[in-house]
Amino acid sequence: MGKLFNTTIKKTADAIIAQLAKDIYDFLQDELKSGKQLFIALSGGSTPQCLFTILADKYKDAIPWSKLHFFWSDERCVPFKSKDSNFGTAQRLLFDSIDIPDINLHPAYTGKDPHAELNRYIDELKTYVSVESAMPCFDLMLLGMGTDGHTASIFPDRKDLFKTEDICALVNHPVTQQQRITITGKVINNSRQIIFLVTGKEKASLVNSIFKGHDSQIYPAGLVQPVHGKLKWYMDSDAAESI
Ligand code: 6PG
Repeated sequence: MGKLFNTTIKKTADAIIAQLAKDIYDFLQDELKSGKQLFIALSGGSTPQCLFTILADKYKDAIPWSKLHFFWSDERCVPFKSKDSNFGTAQRLLFDSIDIPDINLHPAYTGKDPHAELNRYIDELKTYVSVESAMPCFDLMLLGMGTDGHTASIFPDRKDLFKTEDICALVNHPVTQQQRITITGKVINNSRQIIFLVTGKEKASLVNSIFKGHDSQIYPAGLVQPVHGKLKWYMDSDAAESI
């Protein structure tokens, strides 16, 4: 029996990303009525880059950015100026175009020793992000999925990171061995709203496996199940062709 997932599917990647930008705007408007600051974790990789551009172009003056704090679900241990830097990419595509205090931006890696940076990021998460069920609780967790089924930087060889009580971990990319800092599975699943943004035919079979419940336990993305929040998948028709 397949799992029932809440999904929004549009024909093209541009269309689904435009829809996600609008839904994020609506979500933020609704949540900000409470008057509290919101804590958002952004994913990396290439898929969300168009989302950052749309938010910068279309929502630059519509969102009260100073009420939002941005963290990252994961980060590569590379300099901000590297094209691999998730923070650097978001800064170039979004944060450089909007009015947001630097103190609201919480990069996971700032160029120093990775172990020291891991401890610094853990401290920053604990300092800023409110706790729910003894774990940091993000208001919005944006995730992508790799073609091996990883999410954040939790790769198939590290599914233990969905069981650990540690809130972040230092890992190595299984192929490139690139060092990365990642938020762990219990923090991901403790979020109030989790969003997967997945596009492209190359991910269709993975999406099918996860949605049909086959082998979904072998893919980290299949282990994303909110404990008390909501999960929604945003996909283009290519990524969703098999479900
Ligand atoms: C990262 C991400 C990672 C990403 C997937 C999908 O730092 O790489 O956070 O989990 O979301 O690898 O990447 P693409 O969007 O490039 O396919």
